[in-house]
Amino acid sequence: MILQNLPFIFFVFFTLLFLAGVGSTQPPFSCDSSDPSSKGYPFCQTTLPISQRVRDLVSRLTLDEKISQLVNSAPPIPRLGIPAYQWWSEALHGVTNVGPGILFNGTIRAATSFPQVILIAASFDSYQWYRIGQVIGREARAVYNAGQANGMTFWAPNINIFRDPRWGRGQETPGEDPLVAGKYAVSYVRGVQGDTFQGGKLRGHLQASACCKHFTAYDLDNWKGINRFVFDARVSVSYEFELLPLLLSYLILCFWNLLVLHFPP
Ligand SMILES: *[C@@H]1O[C@H](CO)[C@@H](O)[C@H](O)[C@H]1NC(C)=O
Repeated sequence: MILQNLPFIFFVFFTLLFLAGVGSTQPPFSCDSSDPSSKGYPFCQTTLPISQRVRDLVSRLTLDEKISQLVNSAPPIPRLGIPAYQWWSEALHGVTNVGPGILFNGTIRAATSFPQVILIAASFDSYQWYRIGQVIGREARAVYNAGQANGMTFWAPNINIFRDPRWGRGQETPGEDPLVAGKYAVSYVRGVQGDTFQGGKLRGHLQASACCKHFTAYDLDNWKGINRFVFDARVSVSYEFELLPLLLSYLILCFWNLLVLHFPP
């Protein structure tokens, strides 16, 4: 039961985390204080623990409503005061309107575009990666506050390992070194989400939401009918190679300083 609901619980948890930090009432905003119907719902009560709010919200959703939320263009659930949400926005090296979540058709017409990630990574300067993430997070929040964002979830960083130069998306990544990719992910995510460089200061309020991609061992380029090469990625002995960036960014952030001590760049 818990396992079946895991992706969904994760989604709701993240939504609540994110909404806790929202200061504007213009764009998508659940539990808006101007909407009296949502006042009575425990999931709207910020004094309750997030786990309790998640349980409450999930228990109110029908199966059809849950299924409807499993795509990037999540439709609204008006009876619970939940607006539509666009999960797809892009910000690999700057906020962009490549995804449907960001619109550059109002007061804001563009955002800062930094060099592509393979070049930024070549600086081997994790504080610089963090600072770039900070700018991206702040500009994302500004676009949102201007009413030009349908969501605040950015599908970045791309931390798949760049194993073959024929991979057409390799330039999006920090390269072939799992340790560099892991360090890059940690620095970038902390910057975007509004954490400190050292981490651990978020307390549940996100500036914007980063989303490390893609699946482990995702190196193939098969996009819109163009298959650049064929490679059978059998993940067997190289778990540490493929998983290190994800492990670093998701599981062992707290050991980061130790790793840096033992493996200086
Ligand atoms: C920007 O585009 C969106 C989506 O197409 C539209 O809903 C909105 O009205 C547009 N805003 C302006 C100021 O044109």
